[in-house]
Amino acid sequence: MEKILQNLKKEALENIQKIESPEKLYALEVEFLGKKGRLTDILKGIKDLSTEEKKVVGALSNTIKKDLEEAFSNKKTELEKEKLAKELKTEFFDTTIPSPESQIGHIHPLAQLQKEIEDIFSSMGFSIMDGPEVESEHYNFNSLNIPDDHPARDMQDTFFIKNKSSKEEGRLLMRTQTSPVQVRTMQKYGAPLRIIVPGRTFRNEATDAKHEMTFSQVEGLLIDKNISIGTLKGIMQEALSAIMKKETVIRLRPGYFPFVEPGLELDFRCVFCNGKGCKTCKHEGWIEIAGAGMVHKNVLIAGNIDPKEYQGWAFGIGFERLAMMRYEIPDIRYFLSGDLRFIKQF
Ligand code: PHE
Repeated sequence: MEKILQNLKKEALENIQKIESPEKLYALEVEFLGKKGRLTDILKGIKDLSTEEKKVVGALSNTIKKDLEEAFSNKKTELEKEKLAKELKTEFFDTTIPSPESQIGHIHPLAQLQKEIEDIFSSMGFSIMDGPEVESEHYNFNSLNIPDDHPARDMQDTFFIKNKSSKEEGRLLMRTQTSPVQVRTMQKYGAPLRIIVPGRTFRNEATDAKHEMTFSQVEGLLIDKNISIGTLKGIMQEALSAIMKKETVIRLRPGYFPFVEPGLELDFRCVFCNGKGCKTCKHEGWIEIAGAGMVHKNVLIAGNIDPKEYQGWAFGIGFERLAMMRYEIPDIRYFLSGDLRFIKQF
């Protein structure tokens, strides 16, 4: 049996030498080493041998198997190398062709608009502020003149963070508006102030084409001596004309927000039809874009500012609405969809 094994090895090695293609090499490997191959076949006879012989033949067949496997693998590498060398000789390879153009990412439409708005307000002397998205009940509501049981809390249902609260600041929650940064900034820097706060906000909403539970706002706050609604109107007129890239005018209507008094809804004249009425403005000629008003005395006090000395106004713009109008985006849910077909259009 040892002899048969040695002969098998010899035959296999000779055949390997002669092979010229990887396909034939594979077939040969199956013939000798496959599950139903010749080596297995021979080893079937092992059961008739004595224990002594079994030991010797077993060890020998293992080495032969290993040797042959190595020989097959070496031959395989050799054939592959030959093939590559041949290809390099026969195929023309133009090393001067430029590599395929790499894809450069680009900025999300909301981020683009945010940058523009920041530039516009910076040019009018406003600083850009930031605040936490996980906010305390105190800053999001109480400090903004919305006490614990105030019905205005119903307008901004939110997500509370479980088991997180403190005596001073109440529960933790996802902020429903950028307004809490008003009080945070007053406390930190005092008056006078001119800031905008672009950022994400969250509400417990059923989503549809116009509503998303994660959205963005730009808060504005101006505090100084002798400030009136007149300056709000002037600045917003300039800012919205610059954002919409077309001259427009502002209209103010009464509106209710607990942290301003008087409270206002701020509209601008539709820049798509010049106020004549079109699809974008729903044939009203005006587009509602922000809540605004004179900062409530209680909010100034919460921010450690003396309401007898200083006044101010604030506004909050719904950011996605602005982008949807400008880029004619029909559904707010596209913004966070991560859909490249959407993102790549901007
Ligand atoms: N924070 C308000 C909202 O989200 C908007 C607002 C901001 C209103 C500032 C008045 C002043 O609805």
